[in-house]
Amino acid sequence: MAEFVANYDEDKVPDYTLPDPLIFEGGTKVENPTLWERRRAEILSLFETQVYGKMPGVAAGMHFETRFVNGDALDGVCKEVRVCFSADAEPRMDILIFLPKDAVGPVPLFVGLNFGGNHTVHPDPRIALSEQWMRSKTAGVVDHRATEAARGKAASRWPVERILARGYGLATIYCGDLDPDYDDGFQNGVHPLFDRQNTGDDWGAIGAWAWGLMRAMDYFECDEAIDHARVAVMGHSRLGKTALWAGAQDERFALVISNNSGCGGAALSRRRYGETVGRINTSFPHWFCDNFKRYDEREDDLPVDQHLVIALMAPRPVYVASAEEDRWADPKGEFLGAKNADAVYRLLGTDGLNAENMPRVHEPIMSRIGYHIRAGGHDVTDYDWDRYMDFADTHWQ
Ligand code: GCU
Repeated sequence: MAEFVANYDEDKVPDYTLPDPLIFEGGTKVENPTLWERRRAEILSLFETQVYGKMPGVAAGMHFETRFVNGDALDGVCKEVRVCFSADAEPRMDILIFLPKDAVGPVPLFVGLNFGGNHTVHPDPRIALSEQWMRSKTAGVVDHRATEAARGKAASRWPVERILARGYGLATIYCGDLDPDYDDGFQNGVHPLFDRQNTGDDWGAIGAWAWGLMRAMDYFECDEAIDHARVAVMGHSRLGKTALWAGAQDERFALVISNNSGCGGAALSRRRYGETVGRINTSFPHWFCDNFKRYDEREDDLPVDQHLVIALMAPRPVYVASAEEDRWADPKGEFLGAKNADAVYRLLGTDGLNAENMPRVHEPIMSRIGYHIRAGGHDVTDYDWDRYMDFADTHWQ
């Protein structure tokens, strides 16, 4: 196979026509909110069968165990809840939850998966060190296991104190609790709990990660300290693709945030700028469903494009964030993914993305579809979090 060379030249972006969010596959127009519900189901099914794969429901016997509560952590409360996905102890995931200390009543919360274990988001030594398999290139990992040196290594991406100070809670889960991120034929994580159909639309890693976020939501609904009507799902990069897919499927997530999610996330596949469908399916054959591989180098044949995954959030607030140097993720494609969902929001009677053109760096847009591009590279920074909290403040007043 020829070596992949990413296109970073706007002049070489091909002409393309996006599927219209407000036209059914059969050609009829979606003229009112009732018809949108049917079109929404059609789009969701296309993403299930052609892109991310179908998700199972909940296995019998799923149960929650609170393992640790510390009332005086970081000006807040820190607790760990284990979700056992069946009546057995494994597979399971551990949710690390921080809540502001003096909250009066249930608090709104951000939830997101992390790349390296819950112990990486904050250096507090009381947070359990994950015992799961880890990618070796993760800081503080030796022989695929976390060591004490891994504590707090991702803290710059999780400004816990800043979030608590603004009255929000934060919950996070190690993505490897759900599926370790390698192509293992789905032998690990939650996949073995359910039979595979081998019909091309079985779920992959992104499906399993998103499913885990939905199981976390099942838990939040039982926790009186959490305002489960105001839970925002947030994710970065591959986990940003995951946040979008979780938010698209599960309308209990009241707000959805994509941080630098790129190809298979907020960026339009048809632009073929930076990472492409063919490239992502080659490097990460386990992320999407097998049917998605049909569209390698054939993006125009896709019955959807990524603006439609954003449209599935409507009318809930959704925020897409890009970074200027993150060309691999196609910032302009991410903006256009958000912009092209606008018509659905308008049909449902809210504003959409209130900008005709891509804004300049550090000029965030806080309409019902929010967007910003910041300086710097592929990362999550305080700037991003501050905007997400501004966005939540705006829409959750
Ligand atoms: C790779 C991949 C991206 C992904 C990113 C990440 O760069 O090509 O699609 O978003 O990893 O998750 O960090």
